[in-house]
Amino acid sequence: MLKEKIQSLADEYLSEMTAIRRHLHQYPELSFHEVETGKFISEKLTEFGIENEQGWAGNGVIALIKGKNPTRKVIALRADIDALPITEDSAVPYKSRNEGIMHACGHDVHTSCLLGVAKILTKLQNEFEGSVKLIFQPAEEKLPGGASILIKEGVLKNPSPTAIFGQHVHPPLEVGKVGFRPGMYMASADELYITIKGKGGHGALPHDCIDPILIASHLIIGLQQIVSRYMDPTIPAVLTFGKINSTGGATNIIPNEVKLEGTFRTMNEEWREKAHQQMATMAEGIASSMGGFCEFHIEKGYPFLHNDEVLTKKAKLLAEEYLGKENVVDLPIRMTAEDFAFYSQQMPACFYRLGTGNVAKGITSSVHTNTFDVDEDCLLTGMGLMSWLAIKELKNAH
Ligand code: NI
Repeated sequence: MLKEKIQSLADEYLSEMTAIRRHLHQYPELSFHEVETGKFISEKLTEFGIENEQGWAGNGVIALIKGKNPTRKVIALRADIDALPITEDSAVPYKSRNEGIMHACGHDVHTSCLLGVAKILTKLQNEFEGSVKLIFQPAEEKLPGGASILIKEGVLKNPSPTAIFGQHVHPPLEVGKVGFRPGMYMASADELYITIKGKGGHGALPHDCIDPILIASHLIIGLQQIVSRYMDPTIPAVLTFGKINSTGGATNIIPNEVKLEGTFRTMNEEWREKAHQQMATMAEGIASSMGGFCEFHIEKGYPFLHNDEVLTKKAKLLAEEYLGKENVVDLPIRMTAEDFAFYSQQMPACFYRLGTGNVAKGITSSVHTNTFDVDEDCLLTGMGLMSWLAIKELKNAH
């Protein structure tokens, strides 16, 4: 049986993939600087007998594992490989040795799992028809996102995959479990930078000034109405301002200028574009009606992540078959962003969560914290399930 074959191979490779994960964890590299990581991945693939190509989007590595009749159907599997600017606070022997850099988002786990998948699939090349494209993607954590660059470089062509899977560590979920959500899953994320220009002066003489602080106050209230009054209420959206600063100003001084910084997130690309225009129009209108001037700048981030309904529902059923129904959960929508979304805008995609927590062992820290870690048994689920999904998806006609 295929399931048992995959499970026993995953068992067999667990200690090797654990060692690989620990190596990656010790030598994390920042987005767009994953030089050694890329080399290491390429060396491992070569050692497993898999041809691969380095240099994609900088330090990315792409490989193709061919089954029987390799052109029949192609699917893609993606792991991100970069780390974060965080100083690890941990006593584990595999603690980061690169000062100030840490695999605090589990991309070392994603990478090791995909290397495990690579090894499993090469052992099972007679079990499937078609090919599996492995995408070791750099720079998930930094705009414009490695995924967007890979797509521009043609990662989804020659050959073109018809579906793509990605997984992400999830500390709130116990090790051994996984989670899925078909449809809208994660948000687009855009950074807003607003400069309001007025005319400063004495706080006791507001009639001689144009008060940018009062304009900013109206603007913050006004822009919230884009979300509450202009957007389709069935589409999740959030607008948050996290920073407000004036240049100068005091209890009795009206400053010349106020700067606002915020984030706008939603789950519909059409609305996203409309909201950008409406926010700028409203901000400029409010400022000019009060005699001031507003510069509205949007730094566009990742699009929203859409999990293909058919593919994701199918993957969930397959996961239940592989792990048992009790180990597969439904996930809620998240307003965080992820650059896997770029693939999901191009083709049927499924991004699921891998349980990595273990309350009994005290492994509970969330991602992006300096104490983050995983229960390494997650590698077993991570490499096994992904191999299973890949082969089963290829077994499906067309
Ligand atoms: Ni991540």
